[in-house]
Amino acid sequence: MSAVATLPAVKATINGLMVEVPAGTSILDAARRAAVKIPTLCKHKDLLPTAACGLCVVRNKGGPRLLRACCTPLEDGMEIVTHDNEIVEVRRSTLELILSNHPAECLTCGRNGECELQAIAADFNIRTDCIKRYVKDLPADRSTGSIILEFDKCIKCGRCLQVCQEMQDVWALSFLERGINTRMAPAGDIALAESPCVMCGQCSAHCPTGAIVENDETAAVWAALNDHDKVCVVQIAPSVRVTVGEAFGLPPGTNLTKKLYSALRRLGFHAVFDTNFSADVTIVEEATEFVQRFVHQRGPLPLITSCCPAWTDFMEKKHWDFIDNFSTAKSPQQMLGVLAKTYYAQQAGIDPAKLVVVSIMPCTAKKFELSRTEEMFASGFKDVDICLTTRELARMLKQSGIDFLALDDGAADSILGQYSGAGTIFGTTGGVMEAALRTAHHYATGQKLGQVEFAAVRGLDGVRTAVVDVGGAKVRVAVAHGLGHVSTVLARVRQFGVRRRKVSEESGFGRSRRPEGARRREGL
Ligand code: SF4
Ligand code: SF4
Ligand code: FES
Repeated sequence: MSAVATLPAVKATINGLMVEVPAGTSILDAARRAAVKIPTLCKHKDLLPTAACGLCVVRNKGGPRLLRACCTPLEDGMEIVTHDNEIVEVRRSTLELILSNHPAECLTCGRNGECELQAIAADFNIRTDCIKRYVKDLPADRSTGSIILEFDKCIKCGRCLQVCQEMQDVWALSFLERGINTRMAPAGDIALAESPCVMCGQCSAHCPTGAIVENDETAAVWAALNDHDKVCVVQIAPSVRVTVGEAFGLPPGTNLTKKLYSALRRLGFHAVFDTNFSADVTIVEEATEFVQRFVHQRGPLPLITSCCPAWTDFMEKKHWDFIDNFSTAKSPQQMLGVLAKTYYAQQAGIDPAKLVVVSIMPCTAKKFELSRTEEMFASGFKDVDICLTTRELARMLKQSGIDFLALDDGAADSILGQYSGAGTIFGTTGGVMEAALRTAHHYATGQKLGQVEFAAVRGLDGVRTAVVDVGGAKVRVAVAHGLGHVSTVLARVRQFGVRRRKVSEESGFGRSRRPEGARRREGL
């Protein structure tokens, strides 16, 4: 029986409708179950309520004051009213106050059409400035090149702080000052690039307004495509094909790989590559590295790896004592860039100086990765020139007049567009680990690995572990979802004093302690 099922139920009415929900359910969630929609601005489904905006107010019949539905549990016998003239007027006044501190720049804002504040103002039919507008005109922070902080557009909902501090365990953002002067800023009031920020973009993904947006580089891609002296090629990351559809009204997870190939060609790219190809190369590199360390004992364990540059930055800033345990393999984005500017340029007879490599990636940290160290220029040029997020690609497709969903299927170019099943599962958390583990097992034993059974770790959402038999030796694997859980896993590695073995955000191995003689006998 699930934990939820054992909770006592509470019975109450919402707008006269009888509802029965487990104790502890918020009025907001209970109302949703009864198909009653209460407006919200600060509450996000992934996050705890911050009760910051005041839009979700409701009345309990006979109660002395209005209640915030997002953070008030429904109680037995309550008679909740979500909409009457007074409640709607309170919400409207709250909204007008929020708007009075917000710039009226919707047409030029990076979130135009995707802004929760804009949508809610339209729902309330707010057409005029009822309260004199006062905007501080604070300069934006563009220091990272990946994300932009537009402080004036912040409505102080607190989502980004909760994400950065509690979900990602980075603590780059903070509220500074007090009262009317309260503002969101990098902690210590420094430039974001100087802060512990790892450019993961999660704050941007959760911000309800245009206060945190990705650095839009679509103009640079249009310029390269229109430059007759350049040859533009593109790569798409595994997850982009199943998320781009959301921008066109399709449900999350709709696979549009082949339409995407067609669309990218129509945009004018000379060749279309698939990052799944270099994901396969990554698997070969990582599996080889693991066998070197595990079987031949050339290098420390655990071997730690992820294809996420935010993770690399996080590890360097927070867990630098594990640097020797990092895999030395580059991310698939960067591997494909090098291969395009060397192997492909040579095969296609293109001067690599004229080749522009564009990548379409799921997160803003990939933008930062393009020039994070001199190793990102291994081809003798910048290996990947411009990185766009899925949102930016969707914008380009909409600008171009291409009816994306009506396109026929297309194909990627050979050979940098071909891939195996291992590359395909890169788009899912833990996919890297499973693919690398299978290949390493084959390299070490010559045998195929059977089903890997992962188990959730008690009390740790977001961490899964498995024990895999590799030639008679037990390899312990940990997969952590989200940066916050990386610290948890590494704390356990430190706590148990395991001689450095392999753990990862998206992949990892670890071998249980076995006597040296036993390992030799097993040939490992
Ligand atoms: S930046 Fe966005 S998410 Fe952060 S507090 Fe302001 S409005 Fe909320
Ligand atoms: S990009 Fe990530 S690390 Fe940087 S401020 Fe936003 S949530 Fe924090
Ligand atoms: S959604 Fe409840 S206070 Fe903002």
